[in-house]
Amino acid sequence: MPADATRFVRLHLNENSYPAPPELIERALAAARVRLNRYPEVDLARLRGLYADYTNASAGLNGGDAVLAEQVSPANGGDESILNTVLTLRPKVRQVVVLPPTFSEYARAAKVAGLPVAEVPLTRDYQVDLDRLTATVRAAPSLVFICDPNNPTGNLLGAGEILEAVTRANPDTFVAVDEAYWEFAAQAPGERGRTLAGLVAGHPNLIVIRTMSKAFSLAGARLGFIIAAPGLARELDSIRMVFNINVLTLAVAEEVLSRPAFVSAAVARVIAGRRRLAQGLAGIPRVSPYPSWTNFVFARTSRPAAEVTQDMRARGILIRHYPKDEGLSHHIRVAVGTPDEIDRCLEALVETMEGGR
Ligand SMILES: Cc1ncc(COP(=O)(O)O)c(C=O)c1O
Repeated sequence: MPADATRFVRLHLNENSYPAPPELIERALAAARVRLNRYPEVDLARLRGLYADYTNASAGLNGGDAVLAEQVSPANGGDESILNTVLTLRPKVRQVVVLPPTFSEYARAAKVAGLPVAEVPLTRDYQVDLDRLTATVRAAPSLVFICDPNNPTGNLLGAGEILEAVTRANPDTFVAVDEAYWEFAAQAPGERGRTLAGLVAGHPNLIVIRTMSKAFSLAGARLGFIIAAPGLARELDSIRMVFNINVLTLAVAEEVLSRPAFVSAAVARVIAGRRRLAQGLAGIPRVSPYPSWTNFVFARTSRPAAEVTQDMRARGILIRHYPKDEGLSHHIRVAVGTPDEIDRCLEALVETMEGGR
């Protein structure tokens, strides 16, 4: 059965349930409509500059830490940024290292590029096994993907500490930090939760991957960014199809990035929803949510997750489970929806868990 947006509450893809401000989208699309007979811009200088400005303003980066336009390479979403990263670095590494459970696109991109995947599983409490990771990068030149905060577990992994450890173990290691959910973790205490974008100038082997699909509510527009030191950014950019960002997406992105004030309120709304969802899940017998720094909540269930997901779907709610991941047969992931979606989801989950007694 297709996942019909009108029939289902969609909490399975970590989308943002709130659209971006309609007046911004309308204005951008109206302006772009008359340019649809033309190819989009090639160098995307304005877009790069606007995203660099947003990154600096949102993370308080300035001086030598500030991200420059030429350090930014736009792609069709985080997914294409991941693939472009792997394709660019293929001649320089012998393996792609992933830290499961994590986002599946890293391993898929490695397969597409014909590179072997080395897995260094997270510990039982979903932290990075640094001893095993450093041994793995010492064994062969590697590209390590760190999803921070991590999907699906929702916690912070401490990408800064990991970067230091693997670079010390083998200075030729490339590190790609996927900050798809960064905006939802900016308030985390201490160093964890800080973007690594400010470090790229001093780390020629560091790549930061970003997306507009989450905090900016633009999953359908397909726009992501790679941030890296200028030399590496140029190499990453050379993999890009000349016209990879279409006229409509470009217009919308430039409009929202010119007026990014709405993002902090949008993020605060998601964080309030995350609290509501986590509290609700914690109140359901035999469901145990984990703390989250993202726009979703990961939870353990006493019933097999495949059954829970199927029963929830029958009740009109789409959530995610992990049939292929070892150790996750009793884990679900639920995106933060609107308050109404959250309440409907929690109600359905109460019934679903009762059904499994
Ligand atoms: C960790 C992570 N990275 C990247 C992406 C891909 O996002 P995009 O829509 O930009 O391709 C996702 C999407 O869910 C994700 O969870």
